[in-house]
Amino acid sequence: MQIGVPTETANGEGRVALVPKDAAALRKHGAEVLVEAGAGQSAYCSDDDYRAAGASVATRQQVLGTADLLLTVNGVTNADAVGLKEGATVVGFLAPLDDAPAIGALAGRGLSLLSVELIPRITRAQGMDALSSMAMVAGYKAVLLAAEHSPYMFPLMMTAAGTLTPARVFVIGAGVAGLQAIATARRLGAVVEGYDIRPEVKEQVESLGATFAELDVGMERASGSGGYAAEQSKEYYRRQQEALGEHLSTVDTIITTAAVPGRKAPMLLPEQITDRLRPGTVVVDLAAERGGNCALTVPGETVVRNGVIVAGPVNLPSSVPAHASQMYSKNMVNFAGLLIKDGQLHLNLEDEIVRCAAVAHGGEITHPGVQERLARSQD
Ligand code: NAI
Repeated sequence: MQIGVPTETANGEGRVALVPKDAAALRKHGAEVLVEAGAGQSAYCSDDDYRAAGASVATRQQVLGTADLLLTVNGVTNADAVGLKEGATVVGFLAPLDDAPAIGALAGRGLSLLSVELIPRITRAQGMDALSSMAMVAGYKAVLLAAEHSPYMFPLMMTAAGTLTPARVFVIGAGVAGLQAIATARRLGAVVEGYDIRPEVKEQVESLGATFAELDVGMERASGSGGYAAEQSKEYYRRQQEALGEHLSTVDTIITTAAVPGRKAPMLLPEQITDRLRPGTVVVDLAAERGGNCALTVPGETVVRNGVIVAGPVNLPSSVPAHASQMYSKNMVNFAGLLIKDGQLHLNLEDEIVRCAAVAHGGEITHPGVQERLARSQD
């Protein structure tokens, strides 16, 4: 069986789905690995590194045309799909719910599609959890971005020129990215507060040396399932914004990571709040790609209003391409291990992980959410 690794073509994408040392690991499963020439270049993996690991280096056409299993970061375009081998399986962040018609068109070519963001967060799948790996990179990088934009340094400094007080960082949303942001801001010496709508994360926030902000919203929240937050009522969000507003006018940096699966990110910093922030405050909105937690956020840009600096970075993992690729690649090898049996590709939909990740199998859409969206788009 052939595993193909194409160059990522999305604008500004620096990652590669497989790094050389993991190509060697896949060969141990009995697979041949074919990498597009230059695919690893921006992640600092050379063609020679891949060859030394036992992979072959080929043209894009050859990779697409011969791979039984195509490992990607961002999936393939419809134009690429034309050149794929019949019945091939594509793995990647396929964002199946963002553009169901595009997914339908890919499936229409007889492909099987496995989307890594759908891999369930169960213990057995931890090593394949690309969403968490990339969220960790994003959380780390968000703090560096904040430090770069901030007019203040983060640590306490006692110098002959006087004492500099540490920066106060407030992290909203203590999921994977938020916890990594808290840890990174702490390492830089900031005084950090973490807040989440799920009070059960208090201990995790505190274990990183931050304090947990307990906001009195004055009403019951809707609780989610599977460790995720649920969407709240308009009134809840209104009260939450009010409670946050008071808190935030005293901090130097705000990192927002709040998200609700399958929904637009909640608006937590409307203009009434950003108007009250002190000039020099930096907001890094990690939810920029999902609608943003801050009203001033412009995805991919940094805007300044009344001295408040709001960064809305997109695809932060790609800005740390070597390590992000290393982590993603490890997730790919672990996932591929589930898909290969006796040296052959075998998609076992009885396996919960494969079933959850499957968007299409043999050309048929298997994901209920995509089926529903496609049906709606055809009405
Ligand atoms: P996410 O990206 O969906 O959301 C980020 C954070 O925003 C969450 O902690 C959520 O509670 C918070 N949030 C949502 N609405 C909010 C609001 N209005 N105000 C404040 N905060 C709000 O979450 P992520 O990072 O993907 O992970 C969420 C949880 O998933 C983890 O805490 C954990 O319980 C679980 N998980 C489990 C894993 C495993 O068992 N293998 C691996 C990774 C995550």
